[in-house]
Amino acid sequence: MAKIKCELDGAMVHSVEIHLRDVHQGSPTLADYRAKWPNAPILSEEAKDAIRRKQVEKARLKADVGERQPLTELFGFPADKVTNSQKQVMTARVYDKSTMDAEDLAFLPDVDKDYIFNIDLTKIGLMALELNKPGLFWGFHGTGKTTQWEQICAHTNRPFQRVQHTINTEEAHVLGQWMVVSEVTTDAAGNEHVHAVTKFNLGPLPIAMMRGHVYCADEYDFGLPSVLAVYQPVMEGKALIIKDAPPEFRVIRPHPNFRFVATGNTNGGGDETGLYQGTQIQNAANYSRFGITKQVGYMDAKVEAAVVAGKSGIRMQEATKIIQYAQEIRKSFTGGQISNTVSPRELINAAIFGVVTGGNWREGLALAFANRLSPADNEVCDQFAQRLFG
Ligand SMILES: Nc1ncnc2c1ncn2[C@@H]1O[C@H](COP(=O)(O)OP(=O)(O)OP(=O)(O)O)[C@@H](O)[C@H]1O
Ligand SMILES: [Mg+2]
Repeated sequence: MAKIKCELDGAMVHSVEIHLRDVHQGSPTLADYRAKWPNAPILSEEAKDAIRRKQVEKARLKADVGERQPLTELFGFPADKVTNSQKQVMTARVYDKSTMDAEDLAFLPDVDKDYIFNIDLTKIGLMALELNKPGLFWGFHGTGKTTQWEQICAHTNRPFQRVQHTINTEEAHVLGQWMVVSEVTTDAAGNEHVHAVTKFNLGPLPIAMMRGHVYCADEYDFGLPSVLAVYQPVMEGKALIIKDAPPEFRVIRPHPNFRFVATGNTNGGGDETGLYQGTQIQNAANYSRFGITKQVGYMDAKVEAAVVAGKSGIRMQEATKIIQYAQEIRKSFTGGQISNTVSPRELINAAIFGVVTGGNWREGLALAFANRLSPADNEVCDQFAQRLFG
């Protein structure tokens, strides 16, 4: 990797400070050097990375252990639903934002005030995070799997990195890769020189591991089994070894607050619904590393109506009818009469479109959902809508 030039003797070095101390016996001092050549670099890119690595390692060793807060306060759950066998209200760790730097804070998700937590699902998600077991939520699209992980993190101040998987996801997208970048240096006469240098750009997994973030491997079952194998040591709580990385990034040890979670539309055993094109049949040994797996189903009708009302601003009365429509669709899908099903995501959009079309819920449902179906299925859905909304 490119070194930088000492303006005193032209030596190529990684750190001007170390070079001044060892070769020029501390004279001039770094401050004098900076005053004389204010535009000259004093650290190579490699040295900057090594310093960053040391800082992260130091942070790892004195990680924030969080403060336990009762789930009644944290999520507003009723005490009788979150009391353990010793009759104590369950608690979860909440981390201190004031100990985080800008890079951690950038990954802290915003609290969604309209998000309605399912008590059982939240307890399962928290168990995965608290016990440091990789957790997988799988199920129909739009049921709130990704948001569930995200909102738990938002309420407990855990920085959250969501990484999508596709058939084109490669190891390098997860681990990092060498890239050619341009570096500008200025010589003693003040002329700028642009050099092409190679730099190892860390991927999201090692960054989450070093910084103690929650890594959400989203749409896990879209990934190829051969690529998802990179996660195996990490899911076992072991260090990540990046063979191609420079020495300072070759072995990445997990920060104590690092967590691995995932979502998918299938449980890795293949798509049984015909809805999830692109999902892969997965390797059972890989999936066996998920310590906690939970299928996420549709919400209870009342809760789903409250979600739709909260997200769109419509009244509960109308939201309840929209949920009745959804239940008809889901029943028809399960019974094999239509070939697609409807998710909360589409219902929220339908409600919003309904509002802007002046209460035309039937059109809202067509725009947000039914127009995507075959003409025959669209017709069936429209009949449901007509019966409910006229
Ligand atoms: N319990 C809930 N409270 C409020 N909003 C919710 C809830 N569950 C889902 N939503 C909303 O529904 C939408 C879909 O949620 P999300 O994207 O998390 O679903 P998903 O299960 O991850 O879907 P996919 O399988 O397509 O990735 C989002 O707008 C989300 O905010
Ligand atoms: Mg999702």
